[in-house]
Amino acid sequence: MEIFERNDKRTHYCATLSAENIGERVTVLGWCQRQRDLGSLIFIDLRDRTGIVQLAFDDNTDREIFQKAFTTRSEFVLCAKGEVRARGEGAVNKNLPTGEIEIAVDEFKVLSQALTPPFPIVENSETNSETRLTYRYLDLRRPDMQRNIFARSEITNIARNYFRDNGFIDIETPILIKPSPEGARDYIVPSRVHPGCFYALPQSPQLYKQLLMYSGFDRYIQIAKCFRDEDLRADRQPEFTQIDLEMSFADEEDIIAVNEGFIKKIFEDFMKLPLETPFKRMTYAEAMERFGSDKPDTRFGLELCNISDVVAGCGFGVFANCVAAGGSVRAINVPGGAKMARKEIDSLVEFVKTYGAKGLAWYKNAEGGASSSFAKFLTEDEVTAILEKTGCAVGDLLLVVADKNSVVFDSLGALRCEVAKRMGLIDKSKFNFLWVTEFPLFEYDEEEGRFYAKHHPFTMPMEEDMDKIDTDPGSVRARAYDIVLNGTELGGGSIRIHTTERQTQMFRTLGIDEETANEKFGYLLEAFKYGVPPHGGLAFGLDRLVTLLLGLEDIREVIAFPKVQNASELMSKCPAPGDPKALEELCIAVNLPEKE
Ligand code: AMO
Ligand code: AMP
Repeated sequence: MEIFERNDKRTHYCATLSAENIGERVTVLGWCQRQRDLGSLIFIDLRDRTGIVQLAFDDNTDREIFQKAFTTRSEFVLCAKGEVRARGEGAVNKNLPTGEIEIAVDEFKVLSQALTPPFPIVENSETNSETRLTYRYLDLRRPDMQRNIFARSEITNIARNYFRDNGFIDIETPILIKPSPEGARDYIVPSRVHPGCFYALPQSPQLYKQLLMYSGFDRYIQIAKCFRDEDLRADRQPEFTQIDLEMSFADEEDIIAVNEGFIKKIFEDFMKLPLETPFKRMTYAEAMERFGSDKPDTRFGLELCNISDVVAGCGFGVFANCVAAGGSVRAINVPGGAKMARKEIDSLVEFVKTYGAKGLAWYKNAEGGASSSFAKFLTEDEVTAILEKTGCAVGDLLLVVADKNSVVFDSLGALRCEVAKRMGLIDKSKFNFLWVTEFPLFEYDEEEGRFYAKHHPFTMPMEEDMDKIDTDPGSVRARAYDIVLNGTELGGGSIRIHTTERQTQMFRTLGIDEETANEKFGYLLEAFKYGVPPHGGLAFGLDRLVTLLLGLEDIREVIAFPKVQNASELMSKCPAPGDPKALEELCIAVNLPEKE
């Protein structure tokens, strides 16, 4: 191995070289992408974070250097110096930015050798994700991963600059905080100094950013790491990053305007695409009614249609009984869907069952005659009424779920996305931003038999609904809003409660008694006594934002070292058993359940 010396510093990144540099002497540093040995000629493609440049070794090359080039293998780390020259006639590669030139190497060092990597370091790797994540440092060398990580950095910079330019102050909030009983499960951290006591890692900087408003900072921003011990999905990681902000003396309109400005800035500076503002808005109630989802993908139709009134008294027990029991019967009309084969419809039946639906009734309005799983139980008039209400024409397919509302919305909300995907109805070039407003303040948990805060317990109820907070909490709307992009919840926020009376009332509805409230949030209630400005805010999921802007599907593609489904990290192999000495110091005994 050779020594990297001061005068070995690079003069140019590989892919910044072009015909304009012909005749210049340059130093380049990087990895061997591939070595080609043509006998009296050797070419090495040298790669750094900008791309590739060709190194050339020939008859005029010093024999010792030629020999080193001969033994160079993929992923060796190299330092090459020489003159930039035009490639020979016919050797020009139009696919490479540096395809017109090469470097005639006259000084050459192998700074590090390498084993053959377990997968090729190339774009669009087909390597399975387990291998990629075990060797993440190699995976990150691939050009697409490099682009993703650069893009993330650029978007983060735009965020910092934009919010600074708009008067926001970047303030760090603690990572070791008090465990909180609401929201997702906490990650907890034992205290050595206080045996038996625990910190929690923040699920978000929520209370601290509110307290910063009480302190008068007026506009806060933080690119904040958040931790939630919840089940992983393609758009969820146990640790993730928020662009988190809070504003004093602000209402919904101020917060929406600042954040639309931010997204617009990203489209101008990073996406280089025009973007229409203001974004569309929709109430939660409308989103559920039309799309069965509080984060509707509005790039395609396939909207839900409520046919409960038509089938209320019909002869099909599944429909009639469902309506009688307070549920609903809703349908999606799939234009041109009558072409769908029985087998494919059967797979849709299985699909909705994963969302808790007991079945999926269908009506195939085919050219040569209709067929259906339920029409035989209905009168002709009832069938006609359904087709009319849903707009189901000849050639279309009707898909129907009958159940309690939550199941109907969940299953049909997911079904319309699945059908759109299968039928290629989604225009991938569209960026449909949408504000969803007027969320319910509470959500009822049937298993626990109590209300939970849908956003968090510091969210302000809508003034119009205040009188129902004790009598009918389920119908109270919140001053909460989400920003949705193409069917993904990108961010969410709310106007906060800033008086003791409201906050205590909120805790009461949530079944948090005074003692617990004081124990968990006493400092917040105390702070209310000393002058609190009206305030509100929002947090974007940075990982999700970058993923969607890049047209990717999995947030792991934009996180340098992500975790897998079971929350472990494959490269370092964490989590790992605690060191016995450390556990002893923490007074912690591990009590594993016996294996079955
Ligand atoms: P919320 O819980 O809605 O609000 O989170 C805000 C945004 O963070 C992203 N997000 C996640 N991203 C990746 N993995 C996860 N596990 C994950 N969980 C959430 C989503 C989400 O929209 N403190 C409030 C914000 C506020 O009221 O100001 C909060 O955390 O994109
Ligand atoms: P069955 O009489 O149970 O065979 O059901 C007749 C049709 O109704 C089948 O296509 C079922 O998939 C469908 N079905 C059953 N339960 C429901 C439901 N809750 N909602 C919609 N369709 C259903």
